[in-house]
Amino acid sequence: MPEGMSYAPQTRPAYRLNPDMKKFYITTSIYYVNAKPHLGHCSESAAADALARYYRLRGEDVFFLTGTDEHGQKVAKAASEAGLSPKEFVDSIVKPSLELWSRLSISYDDFIRTTQERHIEVVQLFLRKLHENGELYESEYKGWYCTPCETFWPKNQLETNVCPECKRNLEEISETNWFFKLSKYQDWLIKHIKERPDFIKPVSRRNEILSFLGQPLQDLCISRPKNRLEWGVPIPFSKGHVTYVWVDALINYISSIGFIRDKEKFEKFWPADVHIIGKDILRFHTVYWPIMLHAVGLEPPRMVFAHGWWSIGKLGEKMSKSKGNVVDPVEIVNKYGADALRYFLLREVTFGLDGVYSEDALVGRINNDLANDLGNLLNRTLTMIEKYFQGTIPSGSGAANGDDNELITLARGLAPKIDASMIELDFSGALAAIWELINKANKYIEVQTPWVLDKKGEKQRLQDVIYNLAEVLRIVTIAVLSYIPASAEKMWSQLGIAEPLSKAHFSDIEKWGLIKAGTKINKGQPLFPRIEQK
Ligand code: ME8
Repeated sequence: MPEGMSYAPQTRPAYRLNPDMKKFYITTSIYYVNAKPHLGHCSESAAADALARYYRLRGEDVFFLTGTDEHGQKVAKAASEAGLSPKEFVDSIVKPSLELWSRLSISYDDFIRTTQERHIEVVQLFLRKLHENGELYESEYKGWYCTPCETFWPKNQLETNVCPECKRNLEEISETNWFFKLSKYQDWLIKHIKERPDFIKPVSRRNEILSFLGQPLQDLCISRPKNRLEWGVPIPFSKGHVTYVWVDALINYISSIGFIRDKEKFEKFWPADVHIIGKDILRFHTVYWPIMLHAVGLEPPRMVFAHGWWSIGKLGEKMSKSKGNVVDPVEIVNKYGADALRYFLLREVTFGLDGVYSEDALVGRINNDLANDLGNLLNRTLTMIEKYFQGTIPSGSGAANGDDNELITLARGLAPKIDASMIELDFSGALAAIWELINKANKYIEVQTPWVLDKKGEKQRLQDVIYNLAEVLRIVTIAVLSYIPASAEKMWSQLGIAEPLSKAHFSDIEKWGLIKAGTKINKGQPLFPRIEQK
């Protein structure tokens, strides 16, 4: 570096995804309502929720959006099979979905339904803008169409007449439609992606899209003729057409925050900081969506993170009703509890990779991580506070030996480890760091043997050990709040801390000594009872 020159200081706090982030706008995809939510939906929602909660705990201004994708052929077909009108059908699916999200403590700020007037209005405004900007043209379409995937396939991407995505038969279709001039933005998009390493994550997905963009892009058919499909948003300048469901759906990310209708809110939150989606819908979010936005003069989202698939049985296979490999999340929640499911989904695999669900694996996590590790630490500590100190947290002397210092250092070093994982959306890594502290605290009990201290009458040392354990539990409770929120609330109440957990800040994790001596605990029932396996 030449003398007298220095690099600009790094101003970005370690936990922030974007240097200039003054808010955090996070979305899931919006789920089709052709059937009730499945495990894949739960996992996506739990991940987005954990991230939203983490940033709220950090004091950021978070807006978390989720919702349902209610138009299109798939939903219309499911409705007609159920003998209901599309609207009656979607309402019948949305109700239990909302109940499930509430049970799973999904803390969304807005739940958008694409059949809502506020959304339809924005879709039409958006299409008008594209039309006025000369981005659309009408043309005869002849080609192959996959109804279940709602996708047209150009001949050059087909070897047979089966869908490359879902392997079902394609229909040959000929009709007049509206097209969006996608292809003219191909070079712009490649440059945009190459200049922004964080735009598509994980890196394997970024490479996948760059390789896809090595082929010429086709213009995108954005309409469906009403005589084939009525269940969609009418195209305002074309009586005979409704909007292609994917164009309708993607626009939810801007209709929720008031594109054109609420300038202040929109300018505050757009662009989205992260869209969390599955790997199967990557192209829609990283090719069509950024180009659509760019064509109307809007900035693309800052990051699209594509997660893997949960499967039952075989790794990498998508769960689907037709394959008969779907588990009902409501049954799992009824049997094992919502936080157990959240914990499993966030911990079992590194976010981004595929995972396999089995009841055995879930029970294994409950028994080992939740019951043996976390549950035992909490329960043993509370029991000792009752037994040795009549249910009141004792005061520590402030003196610390080598073992105490090791525990305290690990506790105070937890926050940066969580940050380093969360910035990569590595929930499993964040939980592993928290569990390292939990395990250390459990070992601390074994080594310090408070029961021997009690027998020997070493009162002050016993107070110090128990105080340290209570303090670790305070830190652990704040740390797990983003992942297992309902359990964290119960832990907080068992610890008897007077200030509500909702007032806690992430930085409280880095401080030592905040739990007040004299706090009266409420031991209650063990939070994570062991599941007896047959
Ligand atoms: O694609 N494991 O809706 P969708 C993990 N409406 N995630 C899975 C999964 C699995 N087995 N199966 C599906 C749609 N998903 C559109 C989205 S957004 C503008 C429109 C994920 O209900 C899938 O990858 O089929 C997607 O991110 C989400 O669930 C919704 O899928």
